[in-house]
Amino acid sequence: MIRYIDELDLAGKKVLMRVDFNVPLNEALEITDDHRIRAALPSVRYALEKGARLILCSHMGKPKGQRVEKLSLKPAALRLSELLGQQVPLVADCIGPEVQAAVEALQPGQAVLLENLRFYNGETKDDPEFAKALASLAEVYVNDAFAVSHRAHASVHGVVKFFKAYAAGFLLKNELAYFERALKAPERPLVAILGGSKVSTKLGAIQNILPKVNKIIIGGAMANTFWAAQGVSMGSSLVEPDLFETARYLVSEARQAGVKFYLPVDVVIAQELKADAVNRIVPVQEIPDGWMALDIGPATTQLFCEALENARTIVWNGPVGAFEMPAFSAGTMALAHAVGASSALTIVGGGDTDAAVAKAGETGNISYISTGGGAFLDLLEGKELPGILALTEGV
Ligand code: 3PG
Repeated sequence: MIRYIDELDLAGKKVLMRVDFNVPLNEALEITDDHRIRAALPSVRYALEKGARLILCSHMGKPKGQRVEKLSLKPAALRLSELLGQQVPLVADCIGPEVQAAVEALQPGQAVLLENLRFYNGETKDDPEFAKALASLAEVYVNDAFAVSHRAHASVHGVVKFFKAYAAGFLLKNELAYFERALKAPERPLVAILGGSKVSTKLGAIQNILPKVNKIIIGGAMANTFWAAQGVSMGSSLVEPDLFETARYLVSEARQAGVKFYLPVDVVIAQELKADAVNRIVPVQEIPDGWMALDIGPATTQLFCEALENARTIVWNGPVGAFEMPAFSAGTMALAHAVGASSALTIVGGGDTDAAVAKAGETGNISYISTGGGAFLDLLEGKELPGILALTEGV
């Protein structure tokens, strides 16, 4: 049984809270999307109100055990301080004497943020010595880092065994609750929209959700493989020939299970993936040699939107075109508007999808936007997340 932060006694305690402040930064090292920091606020506020001496820790990017200054958590500490209305200083390291001293100086209701955990290799290697050093800072452990809970890393996995008191935070609780509502006991029809470039990266997800959904909508370059597997020429579109057989199998499985399986019927094509490339709209079966599918066409957009009309639950992962370029964004934008307008429970996950929904101005109209990329996909694949298992069964 998993325990939650509100079941722990935090008053006066040193609390190590793992958050995921791995947020996108621009060249000037400014945060371009602070969703993950905002999403951690309920647990942070709760701990501070209860009088915890709060030690926040996170990773940023992939510094591979090196101290990489541009992957410092400084911008995250500043943004958190602004959002919280309280200073959260960044400690220049995450383990060692300097950190011990900063932690000892904390008063109840105060917080610090430790520097990037991945400046040490021990973090990604789930090294017990590193986990122990981190754990020695605190008496209580809270994991509120859903987005990295699919990694068996020291701060989400190995660290747990050094604590008697540990729990999940409110963000993690929310993520799991929405996921359960959508896929374990959904209001039906349940429709899954899966996009992105490769079937290979979404195969596990398709296999896992196929028996659970009423309809599955496939878009993006992923759809090419399903058409090509049926002998349709996809021009120079990205296809994965080694998955043709699997693709055919999935379609027949869907048919046998009574799941409606939607693929694009028309596409926007160009000769290269360039913003200013000449483009045309053609039926999928009319793609000329040398041209590639880069977005769903208007007929498909209408088809997909109509398929969503009676949905009571929608789960969406992956854009249906190269939406970063205006010429190939219409399909994904229209789908975002349709999902936003739906009265169904709508759950969106995966970094790109989140960005597409934001670009369409629909963020506020989605029931729940997951903070997870890989973690959300792993849940869709039916995998157990090591960070959650550690809280449930121990390490
Ligand atoms: C993410 O951005 O998906 C999480 O922060 C995990 O990051 P990672 O893929 O570098 O482990």
